[in-house]
Amino acid sequence: MTRLRTIFLSIAAVLAGLFVAVTPAQAATSQPCDIYGSAGTPCVGAHSTIRALYAAYNGPLYQVKRADGALLNIGLLSPGGIANAAAQDSFCLNSTCIINEIFDQSPRHNDLTIEGAGGAGNADVGSPANALPVSVGGHTAYGVEISSGMGYRDNSTSGVAVNGQPEGMYMVASATHVNGGCCFDYGNAETNNQDTGNGHMDAVYLGLRCEFGGCNSSGGPWVAADLENGLYQSNTGTQASDPGPGIIPFVTAMLNNNGQNHFALKRANAQTGGLTTTYSGSEPTVKTGYSPMHQEGAIVLGTGGDNSNADVGSFFEGVMTAGVPTDAADNAVQANIVAAGYGGSNGVPGGTLTPGSSISLRATTACCTTRYIRHSGGDAITSVISSSSSDLDRNDATWIIRPGLANSSCVSFESKNYPGDYLRHSNYQLHRQPFDGSSLMAQDATFCPATGNTGQYTSFQSYNYPGYYIRHYNATVYIAHNGGSNPWDTTSLWADDTTWQVSSPWA
Ligand code: AHR
Repeated sequence: MTRLRTIFLSIAAVLAGLFVAVTPAQAATSQPCDIYGSAGTPCVGAHSTIRALYAAYNGPLYQVKRADGALLNIGLLSPGGIANAAAQDSFCLNSTCIINEIFDQSPRHNDLTIEGAGGAGNADVGSPANALPVSVGGHTAYGVEISSGMGYRDNSTSGVAVNGQPEGMYMVASATHVNGGCCFDYGNAETNNQDTGNGHMDAVYLGLRCEFGGCNSSGGPWVAADLENGLYQSNTGTQASDPGPGIIPFVTAMLNNNGQNHFALKRANAQTGGLTTTYSGSEPTVKTGYSPMHQEGAIVLGTGGDNSNADVGSFFEGVMTAGVPTDAADNAVQANIVAAGYGGSNGVPGGTLTPGSSISLRATTACCTTRYIRHSGGDAITSVISSSSSDLDRNDATWIIRPGLANSSCVSFESKNYPGDYLRHSNYQLHRQPFDGSSLMAQDATFCPATGNTGQYTSFQSYNYPGYYIRHYNATVYIAHNGGSNPWDTTSLWADDTTWQVSSPWA
């Protein structure tokens, strides 16, 4: 009875966390499109599921579609502020939602819908709407998690550069969710979803694809310009000296192209610091057809120009301008992105099981009380973590509590440094994996907290495998059933190994 009451109280505490009050979003007086507009290079595309890109914008950011076909436009908490993710949460509760449309905040109304079939890919599907929660400006909002086969596009735009006209663009994306498939792009593309030749695209890319060989051996990902039939890090294709931004959660990737004889690539950590120009020089010289450019003016997000859609990526915001912005405007936009506070605290106290709180999970078995659950190479293990551990180790051992992906009375653990990746079990072992929107993964990533099996602290029962609890065994993390048939089900130390202290986050 006592145990049941404790379980109820734990669940009530988790639910209460869903309603924790947060301060209203503070809109900057100038958002990226105000900055570019004042500099004489107005936005002709402004897409984000996270925040307003004009200080005065108060319209919808995106539209979600629920499994029963119902649609809802998601707006802002306040003009010029952050997305109203709570509206999505309540509309999609007990169902699933995809992002059906991403609205253009610019007066051009170049809205992005789910991309149709193209020369190199079947019609795309929409991204699961709750796959990529991030903290920004003290709130939680959802980014666009692109898996292979997903993409958005507008083939009939207004004001976007065509046939050698100058333009600029940037996107905020994640370097933690990339691959070498073609092509995680945002920008100008063909209007018929076909590869119509060199120079018919002008889009910014982030990923591991190294199309010309000789990329920096640090391994990327890299920012490049997809100019069609080539992801260009420079006029020769490669930029051997550029190691890329590093595997950081939020990257600003920027491309400016005068459409005639010059393009430039810049990148930055979207959480801190300024832009680095990785290339500024002539249009590609290793192939012909790029000088002048032949842009067609469609806008693509998440695929190549011909709907090559083998790539993955995470998209938070993106802007396209008419004309090449000044360096001063680009720098001011980067400062605005940093000030937006991607990945910051969302105002929820750390170290609790309240959604939004960052935590670390300490083992309580006598052998191992300095060990914490962390990810390493995609697997969940326990490691000794202390204040003198590296930044990487402390981030790997930090998790953000989310309402359970399969049941919001329970919890899911999102990786602190891999936004959109969750702890999930598979073949009884725990791994860090990107949420793919499937019901299986949602269930595998949902754990129900209760008083620890030792009578103190907390144990986490698998949502879809009742009786199985998160357990460490030989420094690896599993779901385990007391006395079951797997080696990690052994009754010896079962209660201790399945009991965790929810502690203050290491990062
Ligand atoms: O330029 C790289 C890719 O090549 C383009 O995105 C695509 O259209 C083509 O397959």
